[in-house]
Amino acid sequence: MVAQVIDGKAFAAKVRAQVADQVAKLKEENGITPGLAVVLVGEDPASQVYVRSKGKMTVEVGMNSYEHKLDVDTSEKDLLALIDKLNNDPAVHGILVQLPLPKHLNEDLVINSIDPAKDVDGFHISNVGLLGTGQKSMVPCTPLGCLMMLRDHHGSLSGMDAVVVGRSNIVGKPMAQLLLGDSCTVTIAHSRTKDLPDVVRRADIVVAAVGRPEMVPGDWIKEGATVIDVGINRIERDGKNKLVGDVDYASAAERAGAITPVPGGVGPMTIACLLANTLTACCRANKLPEPEGLTA
Ligand code: GUN
Repeated sequence: MVAQVIDGKAFAAKVRAQVADQVAKLKEENGITPGLAVVLVGEDPASQVYVRSKGKMTVEVGMNSYEHKLDVDTSEKDLLALIDKLNNDPAVHGILVQLPLPKHLNEDLVINSIDPAKDVDGFHISNVGLLGTGQKSMVPCTPLGCLMMLRDHHGSLSGMDAVVVGRSNIVGKPMAQLLLGDSCTVTIAHSRTKDLPDVVRRADIVVAAVGRPEMVPGDWIKEGATVIDVGINRIERDGKNKLVGDVDYASAAERAGAITPVPGGVGPMTIACLLANTLTACCRANKLPEPEGLTA
């Protein structure tokens, strides 16, 4: 079988267009412009690239973008004071604090100081609890993007066997919760899982989110399975820098029914879902109906 390629770049463009339409409607009918505040502490080059890209796309869909760039040695007190100000600013509907933070800042404390209703990353402990109990929450962007692609490809996921490889708070655990919410039978596998190849071979849906280049080879994939590759790993091959996923794409594509490429798969969906979450947060804050198809 040669896998169908799930084009995350095209899908993300479609999601952003939907968001832009809804934002235009909100402005016209309600005089409201959604606003997203992004806080970056320090000068980590990868984080700077992400933050720039988020700011650009926020403006492109017609939202207000507020960027706060703080010195690497900013105190916890000053960072918490900024978050408090953003929590109380009615023009700000979403707040994202770019991770990782410098070592002297307590990430859990900082994330949990964000108003859960404005926590467009879905990392606040209240949102984690709401998602885990099947209640309305803000959902982490990368797993939300994966879910949207799976629903688009399959329609219903009910009864499917899903294996999530990786147990991070940002991707693995919320992904498993979302798949469970769509009535999959879910296994979370990780580095200590016994017989990992056999566990993955049982799956109709494989979500790989371990952060290890090409860790999942094609012969772990069941014929016809859908493979969602969350990994973005920079490697050097044949003297060239290359981006690869957590799945060995070439061999997996020979067995899978459908697969996301790297780059151009899950990656672009993350920012699209951040914009979708900001729109959702804005609608909720103003007691307006939520945008259809853009939430879990
Ligand atoms: N750093 C890398 N990915 C993310 C993300 O999705 N959200 C935040 N806040 N920081 C990140």
